[in-house]
Amino acid sequence: MIRLTWPEYKPIEEKTYIMNPMELVRPKRVLLLGSGGREHALAWKLAQSERVGKLFVAPGNAGTALIGKTRQDMVLAAQQERKFCTVENVPVKADDFERLKQLCADEQVDMVVVGPEDPLVKGIYDNFLADPRTQHIPVIGPSQAGAQLEGSKDFAKAFMLRHNIPTARYQTFTAETLDQGLAFLETLTAPYVLKADGLCAGKGVLIIDSLDEAKRELKEMLDGMFGQASARVVIEEYLSGIECSVFCLTDGQHYQLLPEAKDYKRIGEHDTGLNTGGMGSVSPVPFATGEWMKKVEEEIVRPTVEGLRQEGLVYRGFIFFGLINVGGQPKVIEYNCRMGDPETETVMLRLKSDLMDLLEGVAHGDLDQRRVEQDERAAVCVMLVSGGYPQHYEKGFAITGTEQVEGSVVFHAGTATNADGQLVTAGGRVIAVSSYGRDKDEALRRSFTEAEKIRFEGRYFRRDIGADLSYN
Ligand code: AMP
Ligand code: GLY
Repeated sequence: MIRLTWPEYKPIEEKTYIMNPMELVRPKRVLLLGSGGREHALAWKLAQSERVGKLFVAPGNAGTALIGKTRQDMVLAAQQERKFCTVENVPVKADDFERLKQLCADEQVDMVVVGPEDPLVKGIYDNFLADPRTQHIPVIGPSQAGAQLEGSKDFAKAFMLRHNIPTARYQTFTAETLDQGLAFLETLTAPYVLKADGLCAGKGVLIIDSLDEAKRELKEMLDGMFGQASARVVIEEYLSGIECSVFCLTDGQHYQLLPEAKDYKRIGEHDTGLNTGGMGSVSPVPFATGEWMKKVEEEIVRPTVEGLRQEGLVYRGFIFFGLINVGGQPKVIEYNCRMGDPETETVMLRLKSDLMDLLEGVAHGDLDQRRVEQDERAAVCVMLVSGGYPQHYEKGFAITGTEQVEGSVVFHAGTATNADGQLVTAGGRVIAVSSYGRDKDEALRRSFTEAEKIRFEGRYFRRDIGADLSYN
């Protein structure tokens, strides 16, 4: 793997901003990659920036195609007394680097923002940097080396160990060291946590109650249960506590924290049943008090950013810290090299600052000069999913009622427009209904009421999002 450094980033444009005669500030042309609810939320926020003139989303979804044109967006634009920029979906996959680079060249794109992890782990940052057509375009996201924080659990654990970042005790095993792995399991107590080293679309973590079953699963994983992704398996100590997602942006030197959120992963109410991509989220998180967040910053965020810098791992983008609160002590469960989904669908509501200003801070390396302002209100998101999800489900059902929603923001996750121009389901997670409130209960009441208006066959959503959190 080649480690590359960031090139000089367009100093002329930077001067343009400093001089700041309005007519010289050319609004930027931004390309956002991805097609889920996270990307709709990022696009919605970016499209509100005065610094963005045109936003392309590749490939986007039916919701990103409608940004600025829905009744809810028109009401918002009227309130803010300005318009959303033009948003256009482009039918190019987020990991088709060749076509993306051609698109950037043809459309004179000024910045690429990467939504999902896949392109990052596959090295989009390095790929764009190595091509004369795109080497001047900042890609918001880590280099391939930096993306290993998410792409390899073993890498992430070893990184945390090197930098003294609190996390569960662990060891990593391969087929050759299976016997040691079985012996290590015997030194632990139930439940047993087994993690495939590589990316498995959220399915690579097994939490098992019985030792015998854990041993069986370890053998199967090392035997190729998740293909190459489980050629190495991390076994770690089980941590008991409540989880919280913390996010920062970094320019490689400085960082800025974004609002935190709590995600609801299980399909069933009261956190039962299978794991999903996420059924809803709430921000702020009541146990993430000033004191707790100070610990998070000092013991986790700062050593992570500093560790990346010391090790020469180029990282200019979002870091997602999947944390667990163990008796008041935050510990890292996992890193992701992107924003969370459905956390972004609440974090973008609570981010008052101009997102493009922050991203330009990342690109210019002066993120310390930018400010993150958080909305005082609570924000929540309730995810409407297809019947059968996260297992088998059908697609193509007509979706009605999105235009009837009032006072909430509708973010599309798995939607498409069919040949008749009708909005249809196109994924497991279909639509996120995000709302503000004076507190999370008011926001939740809004989201639940508005969610009822959106209908499609098999629609399901959890009605207990946020119910486990109290603000006392
Ligand atoms: P991950 O794919 O790493 O996010 O893991 C999926 C989920 O498994 C996490 O969100 C946690 O709920 C759970 N998990 C992972 N590691 C541990 C651990 N060491 N102790 C307890 N729960 C864990
Ligand atoms: N909501 C968890 C994730 O995005 O991985």
